[in-house]
Amino acid sequence: MAKDKTKILIIDDDPKVAWILTEGLSTDFDLVSARDGIEGVQMVSTEKPDLILLDIKMPGMNGLEVLEKLNKMPGRPEVIMLSGHGETKNIVQSMHLGAAEFINKPFDVKEVEIHIQTVLEKSHLKREVSNLKTELKSRSHYEQFIGDSPKMLQVKSIIEQVANSELTVLIRGESGTGKEIVARMIHSLSGRSEEQFTKVNCAAIPRDLLEAELFGYEKGAFTGAHKTKPGRFEVANKGSIFLDEIGDMPLELQSKLLQVLEQQEFVRVGGINNIHVDVRIICATNKNLEEAIQLHQFRDDLFYRLNEITIPLPPLRERQEDVPLLANHFLNRYMELYQKEYPTLSQGTMSKLMDFDWPGNVRQLENFIKQVVVRGDESIVGDLLSSSLKAVGQSISVESADSDEHENELANSFSLKKRVGHAVAKEEKKLIRDVLNRTNWNRRKAADLLEISYRSLLYKIKEYNLNSAK
Ligand SMILES: Nc1ncnc2c1ncn2[C@@H]1O[C@H](COP(=O)(O)OP(=O)(O)OP(=O)(O)O)[C@@H](O)[C@H]1O
Ligand SMILES: [Mg+2]
Repeated sequence: MAKDKTKILIIDDDPKVAWILTEGLSTDFDLVSARDGIEGVQMVSTEKPDLILLDIKMPGMNGLEVLEKLNKMPGRPEVIMLSGHGETKNIVQSMHLGAAEFINKPFDVKEVEIHIQTVLEKSHLKREVSNLKTELKSRSHYEQFIGDSPKMLQVKSIIEQVANSELTVLIRGESGTGKEIVARMIHSLSGRSEEQFTKVNCAAIPRDLLEAELFGYEKGAFTGAHKTKPGRFEVANKGSIFLDEIGDMPLELQSKLLQVLEQQEFVRVGGINNIHVDVRIICATNKNLEEAIQLHQFRDDLFYRLNEITIPLPPLRERQEDVPLLANHFLNRYMELYQKEYPTLSQGTMSKLMDFDWPGNVRQLENFIKQVVVRGDESIVGDLLSSSLKAVGQSISVESADSDEHENELANSFSLKKRVGHAVAKEEKKLIRDVLNRTNWNRRKAADLLEISYRSLLYKIKEYNLNSAK
C-alpha cells in the first residue's frame, strides 16, 4: 500500500491560485481547497490537513482572523501565509500569530514546494523534541529509582498505575527502603507535577505544634499567635502533600486528617470557617499500623481510608539482585558529586555487599559507597560491614542493660497492667527466639509455627531486637 501523502489545505478566494497550486503540487501532496475563511476553518476539522496555505486578503473572514481561530484548536497544523505586495504589516502580524512562513504572490510553484518541505521538517523536529522531553521527564525519575528485581518491578508498576489517579497512597517499608523517593515519583508522574510537593515529617514536629503546622491558625488562637498563618495543607493546595511517619501522628489529629480525606475540608486552629483544599495525600510509615490499632494508637477508620492503595517496599535483603545496580548507581553519583574517579567495584567486594543483611537498607548502602568514593579505597567495605554488625550487637547489649534496669523498676511496681504486660512480652520474646532458632531463622516457617503473619513476625524481631547471632 502506498504511504499516505501529506495533506495540504489551500484557503484562497482566488480560484486561479488554488488551480496553480493543485496542478504543481499534486504529484507529491494530497490537496484540498476552500474558497473562503469560514469554509477553510470547517475543513481543518473535517479534512485534518498536515499543513495549510492561507491567503491573507480574503472577503469575509480574512487570513489573520482564520489564523486566530485556528490557534484555538489544540495541535493545529502549521500555516504558511500567502501574501500580495504591500502587506508588510499583515505579514508581521501573522508571524506574531504563529504562522510558520509567508510566501509573496506571485510565486513560483517550485519555491512554494521548498517552503512546504522546510516547514514540514521543522514541525516534525519540533514534535520529536517534545516527545523526547516527555520521555526524558518520565525516564529521569525511573533512572533515579533503581531496581530490576521482580519485587521492585512490581513496585514500579503499582506506581505507574496509581500516579495519575487521585487515590490516597500509603507507602510502607523499613527505614531507608526508598519511601520518600516513591512519594516524589508519584507526585512527578501525576497530573499535579507542575504544582508543589509538600513534605511534612509528622515525627519531627512536636505534638502540640503539629496541628497548627498542618492546618494553620487564626490570630490569637494561642499565646504567640500574633497573626493568622495558613498551614501546610493550604500551602499545598492543588499539589501533593507527603505525610511522612504517619504512624507518629497523635490520635487527636488523626480524626482531623480523616475529615480532610473525606471532605477535603478543615478548620484552622482557633478558626470557625471551613477551608476547602484540593490536595493529593501520600503517606509513609515504617511502623506496624495494625499493631498500633490494637494498642489504640492509630484509628482503624483512618487506616482503612489510607490503605486504599498500599505500596509495600521490600527491604534490601529481600532483593539481593538490586545491590550491584544500586552500588554502581551510587558510585557514579558520588564520583560526579565529588569530582573523583573510582574504578568499578571488584567482584569480591560486590559479593560481600550482596551477602550483607542491610539493616539500614538502601540508605546504608548509599553511605558505604559514598565513603568508598571519598576515601578512594574499597577495602574499607569489609570494616564497614563488620562495624555495622557490631553496632547491631551493641544495641542488643545496650537494650539488655536497659531491660535490667527496667526489670528492677517493674519488680517494685504494683501496677497489674505493667507487671502482666511485661511478663507477656518476656514470654513472647522467648518463644519467638526459640522458634526462630528451631527453624534456622527461616522467618516464613517460624511465622507459620507461631500462627502469626510474616509481617508481624518481622515487626516483633525488630521490636525485641532479635538476631540470629543470639
Ligand atoms: N530504589 C532506589 N534507587 C535509588 N536510590 C534509592 C532507592 N531507594 C532508596 N534510595 C536512596 O536511599 C536513601 C533513603 O531513601 P528514602 O529517604 O526514600 O528512604 P525512606 O524509606 O524514606 O527512609 P526513612 O524511613 O528512614 O525515612 C535516599 O538517599 C534515596 O535516594
Ligand atoms: Mg523517609
